This record gives sequence, C-alpha cells and structure tokens, in this order.
Amino acid sequence: MAKDGEKGEWKEYIWNPRTREFLGRTASSWGLILLFYLIFYIFLAGLFALTMYVMLQTLDDHKPTWQDRLSIPGMVIKPNADEAFEIVYNTQDTESWDMFAQALDKFLSPYNDSVQAQKNYECTPDQYFEQEDSGDVKNNPKRSCQFNRTVLEDCSGIHDRYYGYRDGKPCIIIKLNRVIGMLPGKDGQPPFVTCGPKKEDTDKIGELAYFPPNGTFNLMYYPYYGKKAQVNYSQPLVAVKFLNITANQDVNIECKINANNIPAGNERDKFAGRVSFKLRINTKN
Ligand SMILES: *[C@@H]1O[C@H](CO)[C@@H](O)[C@H](O)[C@H]1NC(C)=O
Ligand SMILES: *[C@@H]1O[C@H](CO)[C@@H](O)[C@H](O)[C@H]1NC(C)=O
Ligand SMILES: *[C@@H]1O[C@H](CO)[C@@H](O)[C@H](O)[C@H]1NC(C)=O
Ligand SMILES: *[C@@H]1O[C@H](CO)[C@@H](O)[C@H](O)[C@H]1NC(C)=O
Ligand SMILES: *[C@@H]1O[C@H](CO)[C@@H](O)[C@H](O)[C@H]1NC(C)=O
Repeated sequence: MAKDGEKGEWKEYIWNPRTREFLGRTASSWGLILLFYLIFYIFLAGLFALTMYVMLQTLDDHKPTWQDRLSIPGMVIKPNADEAFEIVYNTQDTESWDMFAQALDKFLSPYNDSVQAQKNYECTPDQYFEQEDSGDVKNNPKRSCQFNRTVLEDCSGIHDRYYGYRDGKPCIIIKLNRVIGMLPGKDGQPPFVTCGPKKEDTDKIGELAYFPPNGTFNLMYYPYYGKKAQVNYSQPLVAVKFLNITANQDVNIECKINANNIPAGNERDKFAGRVSFKLRINTKN
C-alpha cells in the first residue's frame, strides 16, 4: 500500500492534473525560465563577440603585439646535423657525403643570384635598411635586400659543387633565426660569426675560412619586419670552411655570434647565439 502511495506521489510530481503543473511548475513558469536562459545566453554570446572584436582591433597583421624579449637569436647550421649534432662522413664513400652537398644545394637554391635579382632590392651595404610606417600609413609590402649566393664564394657550390666535402674541407652554413625588429651590432659594427674548437680539440680544428669575409652579417639585412610585411626576405648567411681539419678524429666545434649588443649567452638560455656540433671526417676505408 505504502508503495502505491509513493508511486502516486511521483506521478503527481511529474504531471499534476489538478494544478496543471509539470515537474512542479506551471507552463508559464517554465516559459519564463526558458526565456530567462535564452536572454542570458544571448547576452553572454554578445559579450564574447564584443570582447573578441575589441581584441582583434588591437592586433596588427604585420607585427606581433607580444614578442618574447629574448634578445639573443638562435643559430642554425646547414647541412642539418642529426639530433646528435654530428656531421660524420668518409671522403672515400661518396654516398656518405653526397647528401650533405644535396642538402646545401637545396638550401641555397633560393639564393641564386638570378633569383635574388628578381625578388630583392640592391641595398646600400653597412647600414640598416629601415622602412618604417609613417603613423597609420603602412609602408607595406617592405622590400628586402639581395643576398647573392656568389657571396659565399668557395662555399657557394658554384665552383665546387661538393662544397669541399669530397676533399675533406667541408663547408658549414650558419644562419641566425629571425627576430622581428632586431638591430644587431652597434655604431656601424656588424655582427659576425666565429667558430672555434671545444677545449680538448684545440689543435685539431686547423685553419678556417669565412664567407663573406670576417663572417659578418651585413647590417643592411636588419631590421626584419616579419613574414607578412617583408614577404621576400632572405636571411643572410655565413659560411665556414674547414681548411685543414684533422681527419679520423672527432672534432667538437662551437660557433657563436659576436655583436656588441648581443650578450654572450645568459643564464636563461645557454644555447642562445651559439651552436655546437661534432665534425668527423674519415679518410680510411
Ligand atoms: C640555382 O642554381 C643552381 C646551379 O647554379 C641550379 O641547379 C638551380 O636549379 C638554381 N635554382 C633556382 C631556383 O634557380
Ligand atoms: C646579385 O647578383 C645580381 C645578378 O648577378 C647582380 O645584378 C646584383 O648586383 C648582385 N647583388 C649584390 C648585392 O651584389
Ligand atoms: C617579391 O618577389 C616577387 C618575385 O618573386 C616580386 O614580383 C615582388 O615585387 C617582390 N616583392 C617585394 C616587396 O619586393
Ligand atoms: C675584416 O676584419 C679586419 C680586422 O678587424 C678588417 O681590417 C677588415 O677590413 C675586415 N674586412 C671586411 C671585408 O670587413
Ligand atoms: C694542417 O694541420 C697539420 C696539423 O694538424 C699541420 O701539420 C699542417 O702544417 C697544416 N697545414 C696547413 C697548410 O696549414
């Protein structure tokens, strides 16, 4: 009996024919609740849209609003060393170094003089190439300076299409990661790359040649305004040729960027502005 009573109560709770209440509320009460939520959600959606709109207004397509203040750009070497940062090959075994030459061919192809002459502008060397916007008038697209492949001379792959790998005098190409707005160097002194042996390999590294001379990144390639503003930008390169490196031994090398306004590595990122790799050239079968 008690069970029946309970069942009846439940039924009545779901639909009470006397008061015409559904789940304890009348139709008009339900209507008001639905209406309230409808208005509430429309209001939330409107608020969200308004916030987004205001946010997007403050963004500039051509330069990031927020940028990490890391002032030391990362450095990359080509050909890409593997994850262990090792370039190891045998001069006797064409296959072991041909991939390096091919990687450099591919990497340097956009730097062909003909391509550069078509895409880029012949800038005045040794000074920043500034193209500021005047107030709200955007000076876009911005021009970029030519970096001709022939500047790399013996490491350009033009006279020696094996980049020295075959003769055990390999070339390594170095580039700095792009940093928007960076003005490296000061007082007309361009930043330059130096490579040296890690301590125990001092007498194995031999003589180095840098291209362009002194391993400089000319000031005219800075500042960089971003991918959208400066569509044809070609990052400047420095090539290093190892003229007399000791064969059949591991040689640990570190290259770094030198500029009087780029601090030499800091606590936050010991690898900023420098790159280390191992070079081993085997000459025996
Ligand atoms: C660049 O020049 C090399 C030879 O000098 C050629 O093999 C290559 O196809 C050229 N690349 C472009 C994109 O013109
Ligand atoms: C790059 O090469 C092209 C074609 O040879 C030449 O006209 C141009 O002056 C060179 N640019 C620079 C900056 O040397
Ligand atoms: C970028 O290069 C193309 C040719 O590849 C050229 O037509 C265009 O004018 C260049 N743009 C700028 C801003 O230099
Ligand atoms: C290379 O550096 C030396 C010494 O600092 C300087 O005398 C020479 O003019 C530089 N060469 C170039 C091409 O910048
Ligand atoms: C090359 O290096 C060796 C020692 O590793 C040295 O004896 C030789 O004189 C060097 N050759 C040149 C041309 O510098």
